[in-house]
Amino acid sequence: MVNVPKKYLDEVLPNCWYNIVPDLPRPLPPPMDPPEASSRIELLKRILPRELLKQEFTVERFVKIPDEVREKYEVLGRPTPLYRARALENLLDAPIKIFFKFEGALPSGSHKVNTAVAQAFYAHAEGVGHVTTETGAGQWGAAVALASALYNLRATIFMVRASYDQKPGRRALMEFYGAEVVPSPSRLTRTGVEVLTKNPEHPGSLGVAISEAIEYALDNDFRYVMGSVLNAVLMHQSVIGLEAMRQLEVMGEEPDVLVACVGGGSNFGGFAYPFIGLKKRKMEFVAAGAAEVPKFSRGEYKYDFPDAEGVLPMLKMITLGRDFVPPPIYSGGLRYHGLAPSLSLLVASGVVKWVEYGEREVLEAARIFAKTQGIIPAPESAHAIRAIIDLARRAKDNGGRKVIIFNLSGHGLLDIENYREMMTKYRGP
Ligand SMILES: Cc1ncc(COP(=O)(O)O)c(C=O)c1O
Repeated sequence: MVNVPKKYLDEVLPNCWYNIVPDLPRPLPPPMDPPEASSRIELLKRILPRELLKQEFTVERFVKIPDEVREKYEVLGRPTPLYRARALENLLDAPIKIFFKFEGALPSGSHKVNTAVAQAFYAHAEGVGHVTTETGAGQWGAAVALASALYNLRATIFMVRASYDQKPGRRALMEFYGAEVVPSPSRLTRTGVEVLTKNPEHPGSLGVAISEAIEYALDNDFRYVMGSVLNAVLMHQSVIGLEAMRQLEVMGEEPDVLVACVGGGSNFGGFAYPFIGLKKRKMEFVAAGAAEVPKFSRGEYKYDFPDAEGVLPMLKMITLGRDFVPPPIYSGGLRYHGLAPSLSLLVASGVVKWVEYGEREVLEAARIFAKTQGIIPAPESAHAIRAIIDLARRAKDNGGRKVIIFNLSGHGLLDIENYREMMTKYRGP
């Protein structure tokens, strides 16, 4: 493999992650135990890698990226490219320049591996040889499978049974990297057995899969790794924004608007937080969510569980309620009821604006992007593209030149079957 020149790497790939907690407009409400129940915070101490737990509560602005993790970032192809979307600009014919950071260039297909590598490293450094997690559509599971392979860890991934049956491609990807992929509910845990006893045909849910992954880690003294929502996870993702800042500087560009899609918030936080906290220039920040999971328009800002079963500590966040059951939209990564506490606070205080789009208009945006720039975007990322198209239309009406940058959090090659179904659905009978 041809490596990027060392000088570029040293200049662009950061040495530290950025933590927004000390730069938030108000103190971040801490996690809480539910009243009259066993301590969920104590549970976290037993299942998360120790260093991760430390990072979760740190108020340091910068945290050093361990050399072993930075090396893996390099192996995986960081810094990821920052492109100018000239063909899309030409099509939109508006007074804007559009740039995008391409996390889909990473081998597992999305930004998720940025934190998976860090968490796998911390488990490995503690001498733990086995990690567990859950996955819905499979992006997070693929990232954990890859990160575990890099550190020679075993990985058990509880995959929601419906996805396990419907997405053999992502399942095969995880298995190819060496992970054990278990359909959830499974017979490996008491939770799984209980659910299967009531309903042997249960299709599974993210809530059940999380409970199984945690129980399996607790019973065997493995470590549980988490794909979004935690402060530490958003901090690991800050490599995206820090790199983008440097890349824009080298190009001599200053962004006016930043856009990223939002599930739990790790992609948005990783991309936008360095600009929010470190740049003192006036910028606009836009979070793009799914209209089918209307947490921005209908959610409440309150303490709620981040998981459907209520086994984790309660977090103050914008939430639709842990028992909210989203419809089966094709962008599985956005089917989450809550929003990371730091991002919730930034939305509640007006620093971050939001938009929500339905799958039909998102599909249209994904196809426009594929037909102009050539890249098939992940359905999640296509929500950000939809927002860019709207911003371009508005810029045309209002005049004034703008530089807009968004994060293309993943490619959609493994989602092509879902796209095909969508095309059939919206083409009509
Ligand atoms: C490609 C992609 N983008 C975005 C997301 C949304 O998650 P988060 O908001 O935690 O980044 C996901 C989640 O699976 C994803 O796979």
